[in-house]
Parts: sequence; C-alpha cells; structure tokens
Amino acid sequence: MKINGTPYRTIWPEGEDAVSVIDQTRLPHAFAVQRLSSAEDCAHAIKTMVVRGAPLIGATAAYGVALAMRGDASDTALDAVHDFLLATRPTAVNLRWALARMRDRLRNQPQEMRAALAWAEAAAICDEDVVTCRAIGEHGLTILRDAAANKNGAPLNVLTHCNAGWLATVDWGTALAPLYMAHDAGIPIHVWVDETRPRNQGASLTAYELGGHGVPHTIIADNAGGHYMQAGAVDLAIVGTDRVTANGDVANKIGTYLKALAAHDNNVPFYVALPSSTIDWSLSSGRDIPIEERSAEELLKMAGRLPSGDVVTVEIAAPGSPGANPAFDVTPARLVTGFITERGVAPATEAGLLSLFPERKSS
Ligand code: MRU
Repeated sequence: MKINGTPYRTIWPEGEDAVSVIDQTRLPHAFAVQRLSSAEDCAHAIKTMVVRGAPLIGATAAYGVALAMRGDASDTALDAVHDFLLATRPTAVNLRWALARMRDRLRNQPQEMRAALAWAEAAAICDEDVVTCRAIGEHGLTILRDAAANKNGAPLNVLTHCNAGWLATVDWGTALAPLYMAHDAGIPIHVWVDETRPRNQGASLTAYELGGHGVPHTIIADNAGGHYMQAGAVDLAIVGTDRVTANGDVANKIGTYLKALAAHDNNVPFYVALPSSTIDWSLSSGRDIPIEERSAEELLKMAGRLPSGDVVTVEIAAPGSPGANPAFDVTPARLVTGFITERGVAPATEAGLLSLFPERKSS
C-alpha cells in the first residue's frame, strides 16, 4: 500500500544484514522506520508491538531466525532462536507456524548454507503473505459486491474491529483487503472503525490506513457498534483473527466476541477473514487458545498528541485502582457467518474449513 504516494510493505530486507519495519507504536502521529538487525531486535519489536497483527508477527519472527543463523547456524542455535521467538506473544498462531516452517526448512541442511536458505525462506513467507492476502481480498470482494447490490447505490456500511489491514500483514491485510478492493472497484462503502481499547488499533491504525487510501470511514467507541446495528446502520462486519481452531472458534482482539453477539442478535452477517496460517488444526476448541494478558498500564494510561505536536502519555484512571488487560477473546463458531480465506469462503465449521483445506482430513 502507499504512504504519501510511496509503496510500502510493513517489513523489508536491508541487504542481508537487517530488516526494516514500520514502527506501529508511533502511528498515527509519526511515520517512523525501525531497523532490526538481530533476533533480539525482532523479539523486542514483536513484544513491544512495534510490529503486531498475526501474519506480520510471523513474518518478523521468520526474519529473526534468518538473522540469528548469520552468527551461529548450529542445531542448538536453531532450536534456541525458535524457542526464544516463540515466547514473544502467545495467541497468534502464525508465530508458531512461521517458526516451525523456518526450522523445518533448515533442519536437514548443511550449516554453511543455513543463513542464505533462511533469508530466502523468510522472504518467501513475506511474498506468499502478499499473494494470500490479495486472494482473501478477491474472495471477500464477491461478498461485498453481492451485499452492495441490495443497497440501490447507497454506501455499504461495514464494521471492523482492531486492525486487520495491511499494517497487520505484509501488505493488503485480511479483513481490510476486500474493502480496499471494493473501494477501488467503485463500490460505495463506508467503514465503522471500532476504536479498539485499550491500545486503539482501530482509531490509530485502521483509520490511518483507510484515510490514506481514501476509503470513507468513521471511528466509533467500541460500545457503539451494537447501537448502530440496532439502527440498521451496519450491513455486515468483517474482522481478522489471531487463531482459528479446527471447529471454527475464533480468537481475535478483545471485544470481538461482543460485536459478534450484537451482530447475531441483529441479523448482521459477521465474517472472519484469515490466511490458512492462522488455523490451528491441533486444537478442537477455542477454550484451549492461550489468551495473552498484557500490562494494565495499557488500560490505565493513554498516549496522545498535544497541539504542540508532542506525543505524551497521561493517566486516565482513578489513581491506585488496579486494572486487568486480556488482549484477546474467543468468539464461538456459531456466531460467525463465514470464513474468508485465500481458497474461498466457507461456513465457520470443521466441515467448512475441511472443504477448503481437504488435505487436512485425517485418513
Ligand atoms: O494485539 P494485536 O494488535 O497484534 O492484535 C491484532 C489482531 O487482533 C488482528 O485482528 C489479528 O491479528 C488479525 S491481523 C490480519
């Protein structure tokens, strides 16, 4: 996607010594790039959410392995960097997927070749993510086109939560890819952007993306979505996900479950867009997904820009009160209208997932 006319991915190689990433903790107030030149840098960027979003977390970890292999490419070092990066964030399964793919690719290769092979594999993960997200966009576009056909030319109102746009992937995004394609195809759309407390990925990142691409949108408080659904102002919802279990349960940013409940109560179709690397075939229920607990500081304080341009952090809660900050929740499959994947659209059931990925059927 473009920023001020310049095409960007969220992560890109700098020679073979480092990668650069967009520092998402600085958006929307400043566009800044960070250079990551070690596995430690990559782990720190993932933990502190300089990079975030399930697919981008996986891509960054893949480059972390590649950077580590430049110093020590032994089996011991490979296992150590795998485990070190895996510990950065627990919920998005794309992290585990990318690290397993890197280890599998390198394990039986001569040590002297591992650094080059790892670099190529990390680049392939990134390139494939772009292709995958574009395909998700194309499949989602058919849903939006059909929905828009019932609107007699009025804008299609789509609600989204958190940021599942190009900033959360290498390019295009998952939930936002169909919206970009619809907008580019001349379908009138308007996006309700949940602010997404406590870290405000909607207000800070999704709104930044949509505004940059010229897609009409409105930021709303997280609690407003149900009201707009009751008022008939939401035609459908599309969100991303950090992990989908084999039965179709969906972990995504905290608050997604409440939106799905409200959508169900108001007959608003609720779609989840995902690459296949987000499916955890080893779990049969969302109850088993590890939910990240983050610091209560994220809830009790907020950063913002002063009229002077300075960005400051302020306390917003009663002093001394504790807070709790689960970063994700699980939406049961029964509340999800369908999955939009790179292979097409399917019901949010085990059978639906297996119809798209038949190679996963156990014989
Ligand atoms: O905590 P974050 O910002 O990494 O959470 C991101 C989300 O929950 C996204 O919706 C999800 O990763 C899908 S990204 C295509």
